[in-house]
Amino acid sequence: MARIYDYFLGGKDNYAADRAAAARILEVIPHAPEMARANRAFLGRVVRHLVGVGIDQFLDLGTGLPTRENVHEVATEARVVYVDNDPVVLVHARALLADSPRTEVVEGNLHDPERILADAGEYLDFGRPVAVLLMAILHFFPDDAEVAAIVAALRRPLAPGSCVAVSHGHAGELPPDWRRRGRAVYAGTYAGGAAGRGKEHLAGWLDGLELVPPGIVPVQKWHSTEETPDPTAVGVLGAVGFVPH
Ligand SMILES: C[S@@+](CC[C@H](N)C(=O)[O-])C[C@H]1O[C@@H](n2cnc3c(N)ncnc32)[C@H](O)[C@@H]1O
Repeated sequence: MARIYDYFLGGKDNYAADRAAAARILEVIPHAPEMARANRAFLGRVVRHLVGVGIDQFLDLGTGLPTRENVHEVATEARVVYVDNDPVVLVHARALLADSPRTEVVEGNLHDPERILADAGEYLDFGRPVAVLLMAILHFFPDDAEVAAIVAALRRPLAPGSCVAVSHGHAGELPPDWRRRGRAVYAGTYAGGAAGRGKEHLAGWLDGLELVPPGIVPVQKWHSTEETPDPTAVGVLGAVGFVPH
């Protein structure tokens, strides 16, 4: 997943098998590279916004391969914990961060959020606000109930003033047989599948949090004047919600 995404972002940390999978995705979603870039730009704007409102602790779940505007490069004064389960991501992240004292790389699987929280708790103070970043990862968890449980578990320890930021693929009005083809590609990764989800899902996960305007929108529209994407096309939704005081 990380290496397919790296390929879409124009990176070089991908293998032939990743490029072959990417080619199959491009047959179904020709604008996948633009979606990847829009998602990455959203991540940068979110982190910049959060730094601006005083957040200085980040838990970045599903970090991906280092590219431009990694969280610790935007939030330069913050403590950042990167979590991923892809060994290639972990090697790159550790190399990049070798001389970055406020940043930690933790091997973790989001299927076990409690374990991640316990490990991250060695570096982050959950008694103070923490930003939990779930960028372009939850769509690799095909089971709706599991995703809801993961987000609930991650929200549980958060102090007032903390926040959860999410970006997530949605299928637009892709014909069902195309959706199946798209899912089939990710069935060959260790995620075992992928699922597009709509606004109502994000609203459920962030229920009870104070959403930063403009709420749950295509990532291109969040604090940006980028062109509005075709709402019927496959795309990425994003939102940020704060734990109320
Ligand atoms: C599409 S990339 C997104 C990278 C980054 N968050 C971004 O938005 O630019 C998804 C990342 O999630 C990671 N990932 C997928 N399933 C995971 C799991 N169960 N536990 C931890 N990380 C996972 C992949 O290894 C990959 O690095």
